[in-house]
Amino acid sequence: MSDRIHSLGGYFHEYQKSVQDPENFWARIADSFHWQKRWDKVLDWNFEGPDVKWFVNGKLNITENILERHLFTHGDKPAIIWEPNDPNEIHVTLTYKQLHEKVCQFANAMKAQGVGKGDRVIIYIPMVPEAAIAMLACARIGAVHSVVFAGFSATSLSDRIIDCQAKMVITSDGNFRGNKQIPVKAVVDEALTTSDTIEKVIVLKRTGQEVTMNEGVDIWWHDAIEGVSTHNIAEVMDSEDLLFILYTSGSTGKPKGVVHTCGGYMIYTSYSFKNVFQYDQGDVYWCTADVGWITGHSYIVYGPLLAGATSVMFEGVPTYPDPGRFWAICDKHKVNQFYTAPTAIRALQAFGTEPVEPYSLESLKVIGSVGEPINEEAWHWYHDHVGKGRCPLVDTWWQTETGGILISPLAGITPTKPAYATLPLPGVQLTIVDNEGNELKGNSVQGNLCIKFPWPSMLRTTYGDHERCKQTYFSSFPGYYFTGDGVKRDEDGYYRILGRVDDVINVSGHRMGTAEVENAINEHPKVVESAVVGYPHDIKGQGIYAYVICDMEGRSEESLQAEIKQTVTKIIGPIARPDKIQIVPGLPKTRSGKIMRRILRKIASGEVDSLGDTSTLLNPDIVEAIKTGAGL
Ligand code: PRX
Repeated sequence: MSDRIHSLGGYFHEYQKSVQDPENFWARIADSFHWQKRWDKVLDWNFEGPDVKWFVNGKLNITENILERHLFTHGDKPAIIWEPNDPNEIHVTLTYKQLHEKVCQFANAMKAQGVGKGDRVIIYIPMVPEAAIAMLACARIGAVHSVVFAGFSATSLSDRIIDCQAKMVITSDGNFRGNKQIPVKAVVDEALTTSDTIEKVIVLKRTGQEVTMNEGVDIWWHDAIEGVSTHNIAEVMDSEDLLFILYTSGSTGKPKGVVHTCGGYMIYTSYSFKNVFQYDQGDVYWCTADVGWITGHSYIVYGPLLAGATSVMFEGVPTYPDPGRFWAICDKHKVNQFYTAPTAIRALQAFGTEPVEPYSLESLKVIGSVGEPINEEAWHWYHDHVGKGRCPLVDTWWQTETGGILISPLAGITPTKPAYATLPLPGVQLTIVDNEGNELKGNSVQGNLCIKFPWPSMLRTTYGDHERCKQTYFSSFPGYYFTGDGVKRDEDGYYRILGRVDDVINVSGHRMGTAEVENAINEHPKVVESAVVGYPHDIKGQGIYAYVICDMEGRSEESLQAEIKQTVTKIIGPIARPDKIQIVPGLPKTRSGKIMRRILRKIASGEVDSLGDTSTLLNPDIVEAIKTGAGL
């Protein structure tokens, strides 16, 4: 049965059905998948616990739905097309049949190294096909993967290993990115000095750079699969068994491990992929995200492969060897659906249209955006120069926690509107509440974006700390899942995401908690106190602005700023490095000692005319001093 929506009327019809009778709606979709045992009940839930179960007692293995299910109908179809960093290196195509063999073989190899159902495995690897193979091999044997973006530091990696008590790391010697060769294994070695649960490290040879191989722990990928069978019987998984943990930043200090489970995630990523991108069999789809983020999980690996699609994976960066690389790849592989982040669009827009012009881009049918609000200017540039005015632009809103796209146009089916994510997908029951938790009904309203009913790919918990899940997502507005985003519903009922309303900064589509960055800054021995806020950044959407009180003895401002940036890079990774650091004599505080971030945000944005009343602060004079220091 096709679960693809084909018309605007069809969308409204499906939406109605999904709200009136969610259980039947999702059961009908889930029935087109392969279950080893059908579920007893579609949904059990409450948002107080929270406790959400989809397809209760259903048994399945997600990889059978990706691999075996497609072998007979299109075993020879490309599943993954991998485009290397260097355009002169030959690309790799893996058909469904080949992917099946590689996943089964690596699954057997992992088992031989002592990993089994329920064990946690960290995948810290660049954008190579083996990243997808490793994820699927984990899913095959029931191990829980946690992919850590290969740009994170040894400290961040070690924190995640410790939090999930991982048994194995899968990594590579190094990573090619643009004209750089980045050490990867060396970071793992460092991380393992501060964590002690890892028994084995499997190392893929990618760059050929020199690495230390630790006797008894490290094993090369090629040695691990040597002579290993390509036959593997998939582990039987319960619908609610863990599929993966993915760490994400929040408004409190430590990143949390968002937990996704097998059944619901499978149904929703596949359903949303087919409908948002309107994928037709034979199309070539490309998402430029990294597998270290949720977009890479849901829309490079699971969603497309569950749908039997051809998914392009790219190792490099948009500007190497030149800013036409994305468009060269679109033409080379005749990409039909192209999905990227506003940051990439803005960065390429800065080069003008010249790098786009040599390419026809005629294969493109749909273009997409994800990760942060796309401003109107970038929307139009993308629509006109990449989509050539003929491709629908799907601005997709979702989160690590939502597992899949929740608000988006369905390409060519429902209308688009610049800078709007537009309408919810079927099954997604949105609501907007004011700060007191009152539901704002009707159109032309603005407030906090919440969801009132479960959808299959929602997070189930935060790993090892269910209370944190409850506090973060289900307590601000009891009875609802709170997204942390502000939203407007316009006069036509279309949704426009306004950005975070909590202490989370969205840098180039990546979430950074202000507290996390502050904690890292405070590790510098000369730092007394710090406060971090976001400010509008032309390319990154938001930049990181740090106000820091320092002991200046024996240091110049410049040297301290450089050292603080280095400290943050070392503790979290380059993505968290502050764009601006202002050394300040104090921070504006309320009488109860709380930092007034609102004022700091305004100063960082240069909006000093609207600071509001500062006379009630504990230290009103400090505001003037900070303004002067900022040159305002
Ligand atoms: O603020 C929203 C923003 O990114 C946040 C989720 O970040 P993350 O979990 O890292 O997932 C990013 C990829 C799904 C959201 O709370 N965000 C994501 N997509 C959009 C967006 N903001 C505006 N428009 C979007 N399309």
